[in-house]
Amino acid sequence: MSKIEKILKDHHYKRSRIIQILQHVQAEYKYLPKDILESVSQKLKMPLSTIYSIATFYAAFSLTPRGKHLCTVCMGTACHVRGAPDVLARIEEKLGVETGGTTDDKQFTLETVNCLGACALAPIVVIDGTYHGQTTVNKVGGLLDKYHEKKGT
Ligand code: FES
Repeated sequence: MSKIEKILKDHHYKRSRIIQILQHVQAEYKYLPKDILESVSQKLKMPLSTIYSIATFYAAFSLTPRGKHLCTVCMGTACHVRGAPDVLARIEEKLGVETGGTTDDKQFTLETVNCLGACALAPIVVIDGTYHGQTTVNKVGGLLDKYHEKKGT
């Protein structure tokens, strides 16, 4: 049985469970691959356009491949005035990817956010949910290396 057949079976092929099905697909593939969405559409007899409108409505879903590690740089006001733009530029340079992109080796996806509500720690970089406060241009290279070392874990 293919992965997608198993996912659909787990959700009893129910159209009413489409959000849970998409969450399951996202967890499995780290994003929502086009061919998988087409299979879901055919097997549930649900228009592809409906599936896409759900997939694009919720920010948690991604239609493009994501990296193993998610790196988020806060660009809110407090972080901005304390050097976040330089930190972000350094990360883009180090990873060789622009904000919103994923590295070719699929290790990192880089995103920005507007204020994480922890301005006292500005500037903040979050990697895989861990907050790294008072980040500097000099610190950020070593920080990313630590996650790179976790390859295959
Ligand atoms: S501006 Fe970055 S946490 Fe508030």
